[in-house]
Amino acid sequence: MTSKKPDKNFIITIDGPSGAGKSTISKKVAARLNLSYIDTGAMYRCVAWAARKKGLDVTCENALPPLLRDIRISFQASGENNLVFCNEQEVTDLIRSPEIDRLASAVSSLSCVRNALLPLQRAAAQNSHAIIDGRDAGTVIFPRADLKIYLDADLTTRARRRLKEQKQNAEVDLKSVTEAIARRDEADSSRSQAPLRQAEDAIFIDTSKLSIEDVCQRIIDLFESRFNG
Ligand code: DC
Repeated sequence: MTSKKPDKNFIITIDGPSGAGKSTISKKVAARLNLSYIDTGAMYRCVAWAARKKGLDVTCENALPPLLRDIRISFQASGENNLVFCNEQEVTDLIRSPEIDRLASAVSSLSCVRNALLPLQRAAAQNSHAIIDGRDAGTVIFPRADLKIYLDADLTTRARRRLKEQKQNAEVDLKSVTEAIARRDEADSSRSQAPLRQAEDAIFIDTSKLSIEDVCQRIIDLFESRFNG
């Protein structure tokens, strides 16, 4: 790529609801601009996966602190893939089931979980130019990010995308995925801890009718005009 990267650490945040295209777009833009990619949703999924493995009640704030004290989460870029490790086990696919969708949403509403993950999320971006993908990346994790994007799309489009991702799972259909996403939107937006919302200085992009390439190019153009323009 031809962009000259700024000298100081450069942070792009990409927030929005499930299925808006955040992870696909973030990974591609990160690869094109040679930035680290930090998937904060995967971190909540790791907590949910680890809690389930230990048989802990994810709705109980008191059950999780010992697990949170010891949890180790890391990422490893592998081509266009982003491998996720939790406590040294590779969990990239294991954390994408409908059950972990539900459990991750539940743990993400607990303040003990958010407080434990916040320093890990900030540390993951330390000393690197990075794209942070999440719900509160531009509002809470990096309120002073250099470029903030908020992606959204209509509910049916988002459900279709999620269904395609989960196509190996015979139990899911469009109606159940749509209902699950609508429930998760409601939970993510109405919780008291760091609810999903667009930062005032974020740029809104509706991805419903745009191709992945169009959205990536828009973000790259914004990066270029802000830092090389
Ligand atoms: O983006 P995702 O579907 O992988 O996120 C999993 C869950 O974690 C989802 O319910 C929203 C929540 N989450 C959050 O509360 N804050 C973030 N920064 C990222 C995800």
